[in-house]
Amino acid sequence: MKILITAGPTREKIDPVRFISNHSSGRMGYALAQAALDAGHKVTLISGPVSISAPEGADLINVISAAEMAESVKKHAPEAHAVIMCAAVADYRPAHPLDSKMKKQSGNLVLELERTEDILATLGKNKRPGQLLIGFAAETDDLEKNAVDKLRRKNLDWIAANAVSDGFGTLTNRVTLFHRSGKKTVLPLGRKSDVARDILKEVLS
Ligand code: C5P
Repeated sequence: MKILITAGPTREKIDPVRFISNHSSGRMGYALAQAALDAGHKVTLISGPVSISAPEGADLINVISAAEMAESVKKHAPEAHAVIMCAAVADYRPAHPLDSKMKKQSGNLVLELERTEDILATLGKNKRPGQLLIGFAAETDDLEKNAVDKLRRKNLDWIAANAVSDGFGTLTNRVTLFHRSGKKTVLPLGRKSDVARDILKEVLS
């Protein structure tokens, strides 16, 4: 199978030296790419800026911003049998990024942010029959309710949910999988490589 995987954070430019981002390490997405390669699949890995090296054998595409990730995902998704959106894509970006470094002024600064495109929701709207769409939900509160909401709202086949404290920026993860049918699979806490293998086994079975 051809599997498209996204990983890591995105960076949203404020000015030439500053950006908005998050703590995603890219490890879960990279582990999924490695597990998919190990299982004999062809892997395209679209990655935000991370400090880990890509698994050998994956077609690696580096992007910086949510807009670049959206463009790349939309280009490669049509040929993918399965798309796994593991990236922590920014939901907002500065509405007016500057080409010159912002000067500090006395008093507070208000930064206007605008929504980025929800890449996964776009894929869900244009899903071709037979294509598997898998999303991730990292939550601090109401994990199951928020995850199942996202599964429905974005028209996904599966969503992999974890508490932010269990998987964000860490070496291990504890994931629960929810299927559109209502099926729920609780995976044990483990190294991201083991969790990745378990996720793939379940969603591709
Ligand atoms: O709604 P929320 O951002 O929590 O949903 C998380 C899922 O949606 C993840 O799979 C993430 O990769 C994807 N996402 C996206 N585009 C965005 C924000 C999130 O594809 N702008």
